[in-house]
Amino acid sequence: MIASTQAKQATNSAATDEYSVSPYSSTDLDAVHALATAVTGSESYPKFLIAQLADILGPGFLVARDADARVVGYTVATPHAQIEARGVVLALVVDKNHARVERELVGVATTYLRGHGCEEIVFAATTAPEASDDRDDTPAPAGAYRVRQFTPADLDDVHRVELSAFGSDPYPRLFFLQLAEVLGTGFLVAERGTGSERRVVGYLLGVLDMVAPGRGWVMSVAVHALHRGRHVGWQLMEEAERYFREVGRKEVQLTVDPDNEVAVELYQHRYYETVYCHDDLHGMKLSRLVMRLRLPVR
Ligand SMILES: CC(C)(COP(=O)(O)OP(=O)(O)OC[C@H]1O[C@@H](n2cnc3c(N)ncnc32)[C@H](O)[C@@H]1OP(=O)(O)O)[C@@H](O)C(=O)NCCC(=O)NCCS
Repeated sequence: MIASTQAKQATNSAATDEYSVSPYSSTDLDAVHALATAVTGSESYPKFLIAQLADILGPGFLVARDADARVVGYTVATPHAQIEARGVVLALVVDKNHARVERELVGVATTYLRGHGCEEIVFAATTAPEASDDRDDTPAPAGAYRVRQFTPADLDDVHRVELSAFGSDPYPRLFFLQLAEVLGTGFLVAERGTGSERRVVGYLLGVLDMVAPGRGWVMSVAVHALHRGRHVGWQLMEEAERYFREVGRKEVQLTVDPDNEVAVELYQHRYYETVYCHDDLHGMKLSRLVMRLRLPVR
């Protein structure tokens, strides 16, 4: 029988004879990824994304195990970055043979969100609309691009940018819609053109760290290959830093492949400093610089 989670509120975990729910740990990565792939197919979160979300959102990433300690579900929940008292369940994935664990996961996630003052809890999208056909595109001169907040109508363009930038290991399309439920102004897009010529050619995901309260993360920034070298990345970074300052963050952090010279240079030009260098990030044999910018105190 599934017990009430109320008694476990203080520990952000719950256990019954059948299931236990507790925060993600790095040793769960393979099992969570295998479950994500089995249940969500082409919209499955890649391994790197699972590890990144767990790092940034901390105890809001919860894993359910059966009595044999096998991972049978997970959920990712976090307070909305700007809408006060709103909590968002970004993802809720459960093995169909253990459907009852869903209630348990939602219970612990709700407890976590209430602990952060969330009274309204919303569930992010679980499906994305069909992708539309690609359209013709041409680059514009530097200065002809504007940065604004993402809207769901930008999904196809954002995903095209993603495929152009990270074709071998992209974030799934649905993930962008889900994240838009959480980020508010932190989800930025760069657009060129006006009217029917408008086209999104770059995006940036600015996420609030739930473990280090003074920190914002540039979780991802990308510009479509046709539009690079025209200061679009620069404009996105500038706007993200302004946003983080506005919401009271004291520093911005990101990780970057040390061989990604264009990106490293862009960050250095914006005064980011390398804090350390991983040679096996998330146990995935990835080399990554961790770079940080201290924001002026408002
Ligand atoms: C990294 C990436 C986002 C940069 O975007 P971009 O729009 O091409 O970059 P920008 O044009 O803004 O910046 C490029 C250069 O101009 C400089 N620059 C741009 N605007 C500037 C300005 N106003 N003043 C001074 N320097 C500027 C940058 O520092 C950089 O230096 P460089 O000319 O010496 O190379 C883009 O190359 C990309 O999408 N790459 C693939 C995905 C990726 O690697 N993402 C980063 C993962 S961590």
